[in-house]
Amino acid sequence: MPFPIHRPRRLRGSAIIRSMVRETHVRPEHLMYPLFVQPGTGVRNEIPSMPNQFRLSIDELVAETQAAFEDGVRSVILFGIPPDGSKDAVGTPGWIEDGIVQEAVRALKREVPGVLVATDVCLCEYTDHGHCGVLRADDVVGHVVNDESLELLAAEALSHARAGADMVAPSDMMDGRVGVIREVLDEEGFTDVPLMAYSAKYASAYYGPFRDAADSAPQHGDRRTYQMDPPNAREAMTEMELDLDEGADILMVKPAMPYLDILARARERFDVPLAAYQVSGEYSMICAAEQRGWIDGDRVMLESLTSIRRAGADIILTYFARRAARLL
Ligand code: PBG
Ligand code: ZN
Repeated sequence: MPFPIHRPRRLRGSAIIRSMVRETHVRPEHLMYPLFVQPGTGVRNEIPSMPNQFRLSIDELVAETQAAFEDGVRSVILFGIPPDGSKDAVGTPGWIEDGIVQEAVRALKREVPGVLVATDVCLCEYTDHGHCGVLRADDVVGHVVNDESLELLAAEALSHARAGADMVAPSDMMDGRVGVIREVLDEEGFTDVPLMAYSAKYASAYYGPFRDAADSAPQHGDRRTYQMDPPNAREAMTEMELDLDEGADILMVKPAMPYLDILARARERFDVPLAAYQVSGEYSMICAAEQRGWIDGDRVMLESLTSIRRAGADIILTYFARRAARLL
């Protein structure tokens, strides 16, 4: 028998045959574009640690969303930067009716009605201490008081839904928040607003650039008492199971590339849509290497998105959404 019988290279011989046997695709509709909104008009401030990403006032947010939509992006997720001096211990600017995200949602639904508008539900952008929930007065490590935070998170999610948000995405990692938010939304008539849970969200150093962008770094302590410990994989399955039981429609793994094993395990185990968040640090590392001429930015971007899809993500939250959609 001549060697070798099996020649996998036969199916790699041309672009056509490679495209015929390709197993994974990234399309613009898989991508969700995170955007930062702040007060003012005409504001388009580039975030120093995130090239080509901006803090936008509502008018500029509308323009960016419109342009992204024309590039093929179909969904955005909003993060708010409240007015200077408005943060307090309970994150009031995050759950008031006329908060920055609430106003931004109204503007987007009016001006760019075709786009799906999701909102990040968390308190860290709105609390003066920078934690994702409320603290006791004598706190030194950032041990957020779980159950007292839930009603504030639910109020925030409800205010987003009332403004017209198409989807809410709690990222705080408090126990039981999915159930409480679902219950409040349902009671208030928002039974059809889907809930995408940041279920397996790790206490990651990859969030560094985002915390500059959103000015949401904890003022003391860290997030390790609520976000997951990076070495744990089985625990992520427990978190996801709980969120499903509580009514989550979509489960998220975050960050994405360093946690592809978690995503792949979740894909095997759960039959609901999965999302993965290619976070700020993942984005900025690729941009930095590209700026130095060390890698081909377009190719690494597409390869990174493909790997996240291959591991099992339906939806990818990525700062590359617009750039990738333009290439796809
Ligand atoms: C808020 C939130 C964070 C991110 C998304 N939602 C920051 C954090 O948990 O500190 C990170 C996103 C990114 O790094 O791109 N809880
Ligand atoms: Zn937070």
